[in-house]
Amino acid sequence: MYWMDIAAAIAAMKHCNAPVVTASVDNISFENPIGLGNAVHIEAKVSRAFTTSMEIYIRVWGEDLTQQFKYKSNEAYYTFVALDPNRKPRTVPQLAPETEEEQQLFDGALRRRQLRLILGGKMKPDDAIELKALFMKP
Ligand SMILES: CC(C)(COP(=O)(O)OP(=O)(O)OC[C@H]1O[C@@H](n2cnc3c(N)ncnc32)[C@H](O)[C@@H]1OP(=O)(O)O)[C@@H](O)C(=O)NCCC(=O)NCCS
Repeated sequence: MYWMDIAAAIAAMKHCNAPVVTASVDNISFENPIGLGNAVHIEAKVSRAFTTSMEIYIRVWGEDLTQQFKYKSNEAYYTFVALDPNRKPRTVPQLAPETEEEQQLFDGALRRRQLRLILGGKMKPDDAIELKALFMKP
């Protein structure tokens, strides 16, 4: 999990060219344990940039180097905030999704952001329009 935080921080810093701080980590779902002696692959990408924060999507695989196969271990979403020289949040460049998968991550990021801000006491549930829409019948 420490490595995941580092990988996510690198992705965030490369996107905004600034120091970043971890604001939150969503639930991490573990599918398979990584065996002792197996290699660990971590993929971290910015899924959406907001004003000063960025959501990072992380996927982790294990690799059995003797049997030569890779298997999914876990995935998670991290949120990082870019900081100015005074350690205050600063604006980040926007992200344009290119692939279908990137578009899905981008769209979902808004709902995940609303959920984490509600849980963090930083947003009223009534203001989470896109999240509420998931539970409303058309
Ligand atoms: C994260 C932090 C920089 C936010 O600063 P703040 O003064 O509360 O600033 P704001 O309320 O203006 O929020 C700034 C951004 O953080 C986001 N944010 C704040 N709390 C958040 C949370 N719990 N989850 C996700 N994003 C959060 C806000 O949505 C905002 O993003 P936006 O500009 O894209 O809309 C500040 O709380 C902090 O430094 N926390 C400690 C971080 C830390 O020590 N991390 C290391 C853990 S090992």
